[in-house]
Order: sequence, then structure tokens, then C-alpha cells
Amino acid sequence: MAAPPLAYLSDFPAGPAAGTRLDIDPAMAAGTAVDLTLGTDGTDDDAIRLLAVMSTDGLKLYLNRCPHFGTALNEFEPSLWDHRHRFLLCQTHGALFDPATGLCRRGPCKGDHLRAVAVRVSDDGVYTL
Ligand code: FES
Repeated sequence: MAAPPLAYLSDFPAGPAAGTRLDIDPAMAAGTAVDLTLGTDGTDDDAIRLLAVMSTDGLKLYLNRCPHFGTALNEFEPSLWDHRHRFLLCQTHGALFDPATGLCRRGPCKGDHLRAVAVRVSDDGVYTL
């Protein structure tokens, strides 16, 4: 299954304009994964949940939304990783995603992808496109 098109955050109702600097450290350590919520207090429908991960292929930003049921990967516990710290884990039904590509390697949405977000990464920050 082909990866979905890049998500442009400015297309979302509560999304930031293109060129907005996101609260993500572009130099975070390898193997770090963080989530963040944009747009609101994080409780209403317009909120945009994201996850950033420093993969073997550099910093990747995805919508924090499992392609299976649409829940955030870390719906129940803060960690985004599986127990071996190798794949991003969806806690709802156990799907495992390659952090470098967003491809689901195992689980109910095997072959599907997390949706990557269009950003520009530079030494001084991560900016929406
Ligand atoms: S919602 Fe993620 S595996 Fe089902």
C-alpha cells in the first residue's frame, strides 16, 4: 500500500500557517520520540496530535493517528515505543510502525502507513510547509 500524501498542517482548521516554527528540537537524540498537540487545549476535535521521532533516517514528523482506528498511538501510556525500542507502537491494538518510514510492519494495518507531515528541518528549528 502506498504511503498517503504528505499532510500540510495549514490545511487543518486549527493548523498553524506555513512557516510556523514547531516546538520540536531538531537535534533531539537518536531514538527519541515525542508527541505534541497543536491548535487547542488538546481536548477538542480541532486539536492536531503529532509525533516526532529521531529515526535512523533523521527527524520524522507524523500525524499521531493510527491508520487502523484513528486513535493516537500512545492513547493510554506516554511512551511511543514498543518494549524493544525498535518500532513505534500503537497501544490500542498493537500495530508496529517503522520510525523511519511510518510503514506498519505488524498488526491489523500491516502495509499501511502513518501519515507524514510536511516540514522543513534546519539547525534552528522545525517549520511547517
Ligand atoms: S488503532 Fe492502532 S492498531 Fe488498532
